[in-house]
Amino acid sequence: MSEALEWGLIGHRNSGSYPNVGGELARQIAEPGVAQRYGLSPKPLFIVKTSGIYEADGETPSAVSSLTDVNDFPDVTFVALPSTDDGLVAYDNIAHILDRGKRVVTAEKGAIANNFADLEARSENFQRLGITATVGGGTRMIKIAQEYCQVHPDITQIHVTPNGTTTAMLSLIGPQGGAAGVSLGIAADQVVRLGYAEPPGPGSSQTPQEIIKGEAEGDIPKKTAIFFNAVGLGDTVLDWKKLQFELKPEDIVRVIKEATERRFIVSYYSKQFFQEFVSRSDDDTVGGFSVEHDGWQIVGGFQHVGQNPLFGELATLNGPGNGVVFGLGHNERYGHPVLKGSGAGPGPTAYTMLSDYLAMRRDSA
Ligand SMILES: NC(=O)c1ccc[n+]([C@@H]2O[C@H](COP(=O)([O-])OP(=O)(O)OC[C@H]3O[C@@H](n4cnc5c(N)ncnc54)[C@H](OP(=O)(O)O)[C@@H]3O)[C@@H](O)[C@H]2O)c1
Repeated sequence: MSEALEWGLIGHRNSGSYPNVGGELARQIAEPGVAQRYGLSPKPLFIVKTSGIYEADGETPSAVSSLTDVNDFPDVTFVALPSTDDGLVAYDNIAHILDRGKRVVTAEKGAIANNFADLEARSENFQRLGITATVGGGTRMIKIAQEYCQVHPDITQIHVTPNGTTTAMLSLIGPQGGAAGVSLGIAADQVVRLGYAEPPGPGSSQTPQEIIKGEAEGDIPKKTAIFFNAVGLGDTVLDWKKLQFELKPEDIVRVIKEATERRFIVSYYSKQFFQEFVSRSDDDTVGGFSVEHDGWQIVGGFQHVGQNPLFGELATLNGPGNGVVFGLGHNERYGHPVLKGSGAGPGPTAYTMLSDYLAMRRDSA
């Protein structure tokens, strides 16, 4: 790539108590040779923080006070705003920039989960909007799943661990293979310090139980719907709000107590497979949802890892691991491929956002 194109960044912190995605993205692009490899300028044209819009140094206030007053955007804007249930701030920015003909890459799942069809149309079927980092962080599981799921009748079941924070906490307190676990407090401290968990608001802190509850209720239903919609499993868009649930205090106590044998797994079953095999088995899933949509039964919760032979690969995930297993063909006769990797963490997530940009640029060349 010869031409260095300009870029913008919405959501950025380059200091503070925990790392974040926007700061990491700027750091990666500024590394020697990286900007050149991506065909980008080493510094952003603008940086948007909570306190306002700034020039490339992140310190000098921009002459512009609101992005919605701007019509001329750089080639790509990276959006690393905190995820919210309505995703409204991110959506307003993304829609505004797409409508001005430019590209956006985002890790914010609220905007995508709430406005999937709208943003698909505005970006010409995601040709100008990269959403790979919204599910699975560094694994790029959406792209891999699009490849494996081209022929729906051949898929019996897909299992996903979409939340790196709960995987990290449960594997720290209850590691597989009989190793000694750490205390719940240390596990919670680690997931916040390493930037896996959605950070608490300024000046507040979260108990380990609140982290598990917040991630399970707030993060997973949105990712479950984005995965379903982005992979194109149904004919109609799955609304993430149909998957909302409440994780009760007694559920959290049980999950912690059974940490070695439970992971939050989302299972997408073909209706026929579900009726023949799954609905007839004893289900002791803790928390979660079970929803039918367009010929699929979508079941999510802290499932027992011994409940399904295909859960075995996901049971061994540790750290902020995310994974996906595909059951292909009747009795998996076409195989059960697995993808595992870092599902959270600013490094892998920012790197995925950069790859999304590269893929969009390549596809439009
Ligand atoms: N962390 C991960 O491992 C990971 C993995 C996959 C996806 N994601 C997604 O990536 C996004 C960013 O995650 P993160 O961990 O980097 O979050 P974060 O630490 O909360 O960082 C978000 C940044 O956005 C800024 N910000 C907040 N509200 C803003 C507003 N209204 N206008 C402009 N800037 C604003 C904050 O600035 P101040 O510092 O000034 O408050 C902060 O620097 C989230 O949507 C998250 O779900 C994260």
